[in-house]
Amino acid sequence: MNIPFLDLTRQYKALKQEIDSAITRVVSSGRYIGGEEVKLFEEEMAAYTKVRFGVSTASGTDALLACLMAMGIKEGDEVITTPFTFISTAEVISLLGARPVFVDIDKETFNIDPSLLESRITDKTKCIIPVHIFGHLADMDSILSIAKSNNLRVLEDAAQAVGATYNGKKACSFGDAGCLSFYPSKNLGAYGDGGMVLTNDEDIAKKVALIKNHGSEKSYHHSVLGFNGRLDALQAAILRVKLRHLEDWNEKRRAGAFYYNDVLKNCVKVPVQRDGYRHVFNQYSMLTEAREEIIEHLKQRGIPTVIYYPLALHLQDVFSYLGYKEGDFPVTEEVIKKILSLPIFPELNESEKKYIAGETKGFFSTVRQAP
Ligand SMILES: Cc1ncc(COP(=O)(O)O)c(C=O)c1O
Repeated sequence: MNIPFLDLTRQYKALKQEIDSAITRVVSSGRYIGGEEVKLFEEEMAAYTKVRFGVSTASGTDALLACLMAMGIKEGDEVITTPFTFISTAEVISLLGARPVFVDIDKETFNIDPSLLESRITDKTKCIIPVHIFGHLADMDSILSIAKSNNLRVLEDAAQAVGATYNGKKACSFGDAGCLSFYPSKNLGAYGDGGMVLTNDEDIAKKVALIKNHGSEKSYHHSVLGFNGRLDALQAAILRVKLRHLEDWNEKRRAGAFYYNDVLKNCVKVPVQRDGYRHVFNQYSMLTEAREEIIEHLKQRGIPTVIYYPLALHLQDVFSYLGYKEGDFPVTEEVIKKILSLPIFPELNESEKKYIAGETKGFFSTVRQAP
């Protein structure tokens, strides 16, 4: 059997009528930037997240950048985040001339470890960006309490965690603001790039709305420095259709992940979902000492795998100027040696999931003894 790591065409085929009519509606409206579709999508996302404001952007990276700008992050400031994330999270800090300060991760959730946070706070620290990696929320109780006692802003990077909850509360509703990405592979994916800032803070919402529109409220009048970071009407119309299916898709991801957990729990370190949390499995990422052999074993059987992430941010060339070295973040470095993601998208059928789990388990019974 040949299985794709991610096949977005299956979802399109299932929603073809709804999507095609949304596209036709926008194309025939003549309104391609801004307008009703964008406004309605922002309102629907804010309602879904249970926050007051949703401000759409052209990507998740733009959402993070505009949000940090709205918070006034500038040269000389320090922003704490995790080295185990996609580049965007730290890139936007550096783009503003501020300094990314990394803190190691929890070995089970792969999220920033709050017990290590306080020691990295200085008088230059302005903000913490926890990343809800792979779809499991970071420990927001601890992070918010540290932020409060040190007077720091909290910006949730929820690019991989739309619909994830802790005690029933959704990602993006804990911090001063939260950012989503609608990159096609995300749980709520556009047919192109897209992102959003969600917040209860009216000041942040207003500033982000200005910044992502060239700092302009009135045409050709610019009050603050901004950029072109707007979401297209076409993407908004498509995402409005998809939002109606998000809960169903997240449930399917969860069911797939728990099925894998069941089959693989004695072979690999399966991903955890802590008590009170709802993991939405943008990725199903397990830890195994036998990673390279499993990759080869599965590849020969038509099952692709991906390593998220092969190199931690503190060891990336682009951040060499920060002066970090190997050994600085031992948990991250250990995880990076062992982590491997299996296909987990909602449209995988039962026989494909059974095949993926069975062949992964089969590696341990035929090739190598289970630990
Ligand atoms: C954790 C994280 N942060 C930020 C981003 C940036 O989002 P985008 O690709 O929409 O710019 C992504 C995804 O791509 C991500 O996974």
